[in-house]
Amino acid sequence: MPSSIVAAQLLQNGEIWAVTPPATGVSLGGRVSVPGDKSISHRALMLGAIASGETEIRGLLLGEDPRSTAACLQAMGAEISPLNSDRVRVSGVGEVGLREPGDVLNAGNSGTTLRLMLGLLASQAGCFFAVTGDASLRSRPMSRVVQPLQQMGAQIWGRNGASVAPLAVSGRSLQGIEYHSPIASAQVKSCILLAGLRTQGKTTVVEPALSRDHSERMLRAFGAEIEVDGDRRSVTVTGGSRLTGQTVVVPGDISSAAFWLVAGAIVPGAEIVVENVGVNPTRTGILEALEMMDADISREKEREVAGEPVADLRVRSRVLKACTIGGDVIPRLIDEVPILAVAAAFASGTTTIRDAAELRVKESDRLAAMATQLNKMGARVTELPDGLEIVGGADLKGTEVESYGDHRIAMSLAIAALRSSGTTYIQQAEAASISYPGFVKTLRQVCGEGTTDNATTDK
Ligand code: S3P
Repeated sequence: MPSSIVAAQLLQNGEIWAVTPPATGVSLGGRVSVPGDKSISHRALMLGAIASGETEIRGLLLGEDPRSTAACLQAMGAEISPLNSDRVRVSGVGEVGLREPGDVLNAGNSGTTLRLMLGLLASQAGCFFAVTGDASLRSRPMSRVVQPLQQMGAQIWGRNGASVAPLAVSGRSLQGIEYHSPIASAQVKSCILLAGLRTQGKTTVVEPALSRDHSERMLRAFGAEIEVDGDRRSVTVTGGSRLTGQTVVVPGDISSAAFWLVAGAIVPGAEIVVENVGVNPTRTGILEALEMMDADISREKEREVAGEPVADLRVRSRVLKACTIGGDVIPRLIDEVPILAVAAAFASGTTTIRDAAELRVKESDRLAAMATQLNKMGARVTELPDGLEIVGGADLKGTEVESYGDHRIAMSLAIAALRSSGTTYIQQAEAASISYPGFVKTLRQVCGEGTTDNATTDK
């Protein structure tokens, strides 16, 4: 596509994005890369910090969330090179080397930072910590990690029975437990495994359905003793394992790639290749759902990079049909439900998404957010207690919509705008930098504005 074609106008004005669809006869195209996987980035920083020796992280996500993790770890004595290049070095302090910080640790908007870090803090004997986050994070449930940590002997205080941040933690030696989690949550699993690293004996987490397994993979790579049972829902860590710094290569985030996969599927005539995407099977629920909707997506150059499967994903536009999803696939596409709702709004038939009540306690209530904002644009979405029902095929019209300061809502609405008439104004859209600092640049690129063929510059 020649770069002179202005296929879409996108203005970035403080907190508001104005997005219009491509002009008639113009579509989306090109090869793009997406920033590093957010989950893997957090874990690489944390494991690097508590390992012995140096860790080099290549392809780290330079978004706000990993920056929160890095700042907390630095406040506890880990040396981390400036987060201004996607090659970052972490000098580990060793398994029990984190220091008591002189101030409150701030996890910002990041649930992963706060929940995983609680496992490290609770088991750091002799140190006192206070932890908090932004208004969204301070409203999100923390009992899901506080309760199992308390069963391990942790001392944690906070409002409402330590169920919300700010929280105070007095680190001490913990005992291993076998924990049957009521929810499939990688944050819960990872928090307990990190605490279990420093207990005597074994700590087991059993999940009702398999959640992302990046912690298990990376803990093993760093030298921890990890056992995973047959169906992978039960994971055991042996306390006292020694961790050694590693080189971690972070693949592109499939949660960020999902925006281009859906854009490429719904905008007539589009063809986009998203390069270097992590396709760990615990994360590819979105590919399965889009396949059920008849999307034309193929995997190219499948390979394994530093213990994680990676592929290029090619999407070509095709008329989508509705699907019904729920059950075990939900944890494998939990962050992609907002963008899946956008795909469903343009599919023929009624899509039903169930078993996704967890979306109500993400950075915003994502079920309510997508239902109200897509309906403002003319979609027919009904909120269910644990999901969404979307009657596809309505003509959407651009209007003023609210992102609630939630990165994935802002970007999902921007993709919806590409198939809507007129201009969509998205409030608080700067939240995208939480997980996808280069989103606007790549949106311009796929629309043919200021196109660069060198997609790797899009970081
Ligand atoms: C994450 C796990 C998921 C996901 C979040 C990142 C992780 O949360 O929504 O964006 O890195 O472990 P839950 O574990 O709460 O489902």
